[in-house]
Amino acid sequence: MTDDDIDRLVSKLDLEQKARLVTGASVWRTAAEPDIGLRAMVFSDGPAGVRGEGWDERDPSLTLPCPTALAATWDERLVGLLGGLLAGEARRKGVHVLLAPTLNLHRSPLAGRHFECYSEDPVLAGRIGAALIGGIQAGGVAATAKHYVANDSETERLTLDARIDERTLRELYLAPFETAVAAGVWVVMSAYNAVNSITMSENPLLANPLKDEWGFDGVVVSDWGAVRSTAAAGRAAQDLAMPGPEGPWGPALAAAVRDGQVPEAAIDDKVRRLLLLAARVGALGLPADDPWPPDLPIGPASGAPDLPIGPACRAPDLPIGPACRAPGLPIGPASGAPEGERAARLLLRRAVAASAVLLRNEGGLLPLDPARPRRVAVFGPNAVTPRIQGGGSAGVYPRRTVSLLDGIREALPATVEVVHCPGVSHDVRPTPLSTGNARDPRTGEPGLLVRLLDAAGREIHAEYRLTGHVPEPARTVPARAAVVEIRALLRPDVTGPWELGVAGWGRVTLEAGGRVLIDEDVERDTDDPATVHLSPPYRTARLPLEAGRDVELVSRRRLDPGSGVASALAADPPRPEETAGLRAAAGLARSADLAVVVVGTGQDAESEGADRTDLNLPGHQDELVRTVAAANPATVVIVNAGGPVALPWREEVPAVLLSWFPGQEAGHGLADVLFGRAEPGGRLPVTFAGRSLVSTVPVDGALTYAEGLDIGYRAWLRRAEPPAYWFGHGLGYTTWAYEELSVPAEAGPGLPVTVRVRVRNMGERPGREVVQVYLARPETSLARPPRWLAGHARAEARPGESVEVDVRLPARAFQHWDAGRAAWHTEPGGFTVLAGRSSADLPLSAALFG
Ligand code: BGC
Repeated sequence: MTDDDIDRLVSKLDLEQKARLVTGASVWRTAAEPDIGLRAMVFSDGPAGVRGEGWDERDPSLTLPCPTALAATWDERLVGLLGGLLAGEARRKGVHVLLAPTLNLHRSPLAGRHFECYSEDPVLAGRIGAALIGGIQAGGVAATAKHYVANDSETERLTLDARIDERTLRELYLAPFETAVAAGVWVVMSAYNAVNSITMSENPLLANPLKDEWGFDGVVVSDWGAVRSTAAAGRAAQDLAMPGPEGPWGPALAAAVRDGQVPEAAIDDKVRRLLLLAARVGALGLPADDPWPPDLPIGPASGAPDLPIGPACRAPDLPIGPACRAPGLPIGPASGAPEGERAARLLLRRAVAASAVLLRNEGGLLPLDPARPRRVAVFGPNAVTPRIQGGGSAGVYPRRTVSLLDGIREALPATVEVVHCPGVSHDVRPTPLSTGNARDPRTGEPGLLVRLLDAAGREIHAEYRLTGHVPEPARTVPARAAVVEIRALLRPDVTGPWELGVAGWGRVTLEAGGRVLIDEDVERDTDDPATVHLSPPYRTARLPLEAGRDVELVSRRRLDPGSGVASALAADPPRPEETAGLRAAAGLARSADLAVVVVGTGQDAESEGADRTDLNLPGHQDELVRTVAAANPATVVIVNAGGPVALPWREEVPAVLLSWFPGQEAGHGLADVLFGRAEPGGRLPVTFAGRSLVSTVPVDGALTYAEGLDIGYRAWLRRAEPPAYWFGHGLGYTTWAYEELSVPAEAGPGLPVTVRVRVRNMGERPGREVVQVYLARPETSLARPPRWLAGHARAEARPGESVEVDVRLPARAFQHWDAGRAAWHTEPGGFTVLAGRSSADLPLSAALFG
């Protein structure tokens, strides 16, 4: 489709039609315009997977490791393959635009969506983001670079005014978006927040640098509900207001054009961009019943010889019913999954190992020899219920979840005894009922019954569901629905005081066995859509229950206007006393040859809509680690968190492995690493320290980025005390000598430079190293970070072998933003090139241009 073709189509539309097109038609769809062959486009979150239009656990998604994990791979090829997998999922679910990647930076580890962003470093974030975009878009699905810009924390995220100087904006926060545009991204999402006092859906940064200087030719979609004005946002380079059809655009935008408040040319430009996007994703011009040409390549993955994750991934006949996640299902390749599903699982499993960061490995405890232990003891609730993804709109329902306990059991010979003891419990949020403990009272099937009732209490709709967390009780909720009810038979597995919970805004009730336990009005205290619609608060009550004796639980929520969509029914068994749990853990640890403790964050932390207040592991998990490590010297700790947490015991245990939120294949990928079938491939994309150096709490609505360019390792390099683990750190199963760094003699300022690094594998296993190259400027007239990442490359070598890798340092790595001239500029004089294995371990250096 040429520009002229698109202009011709735009000229066929009247003002009302155009205003309708730039406003969402529903929560996830744009409007169709049959007159010009335009079909609706479907949007979906990401980035953990592709959820599709509904929040429905019966339509699950392949679930990737979280974005921090993807960045920890430092591996653009692998991330591109995962992008291809997302494209396949999007196409299977009829999604045209995936709302990923999130390119905001790790300004603070406290940020609630830290797990959803890639890195504290703009170069790494940009490169990993660009790789994912490439993989998604090669599959004919649009990627969305979000949230443009400075949506780096959650406290007051809808309104906060990020005050950032121009140079910091350019060199840090805009940089990954610039890389995404250079990679050809088709959609950019404007953020909720303001930057320098102008809300982003009206901000001139949308025009410049995004569209003018960088030449972005795609669509700027708003974050959900971020367009707050008709004329100001209409005049700005904001193209599409989502969701719709309500909101400040639609007919009001047409009226604003008629009133002369918004030039019609501005609307035409928005529509033009929308049509180009539609052409790119196959929603314009092709017959409606054939939206996806069958022979479209679906991303780099389809070309990878060893990973057939092509068309089969989106085959319509994939089993997505209860069978995929039934708790007792065999989880190995033997499970009879179709070829595409198996290949996807293998890729996801590989990604778990490639992103796992081995923080510490004293005495070479890892890898473990699977033939040696006779008894392996596994600790921590997360060993059985891993946290595979962070919270908020990024969340998807996984196709399945492989726990670490399952992964370890499957990796070891049947003769090895693998035992588990939670030791502690740390999740304070009640656990929604599931097929594991609830049955539909009508049929007796594992699961729950969800009903919509009218004002007289008559049933108008009923659905069988698999979880007690129900964001959508029906695909469309009829207007006369007055109450959503969740009903289930709970069969307690232990006797004692159970904690029963109901979640929702507005009037909620909870009955157990016909007895009313809760009847309360829950007043809404937030406008944040992630909290309103996904995480309403729980009200709980305790009730003594007897093991094996069914009790019928019924929660009801009145569907008052503005009370959001989600409801939940939850039940938790009595918690064992902490001291008893720790004592049991110590006893079990003593009896085993090997102890594996899995610690992690709870469901309340690391979620959209709220920042953390500290980085401590919740509950008594630190004590659990210390107890187990004191009882068994062969203790491995796995940290299951999406971002930094405090590890006060880290020097007291021999091995610490960071799994991030590893996605659905968690247990298999981690077992591969533990038993040496795969190297821990990850290197930290963020400094690991027990605290944040900056606050995420706005003062009088403003969050001042006073630290300027010094975030993450750049800030820690200026401090006397080191962080726990530096940006870039991560051990493999071999060691490397950094032998030589060569810089080209003929290099000149203003041009990219390729440096060559020679490394030698000094260990006894083949290995893979992430060679990192930083720049520093010993003498400078500018305020500069002590050093900054300029490039990286992977080296692979056999034992004893030495290899050379070329690392390209783009011209931009040498430049700074000169706010006076409003241009990029290379300061004359010398730079120091540093090469090594982390931001603080750089054995090689050379002078350039000096
Ligand atoms: C989030 C976006 C998300 C959108 C749609 C917003 O609250 O900030 O990242 O894509 O909701 O779910």
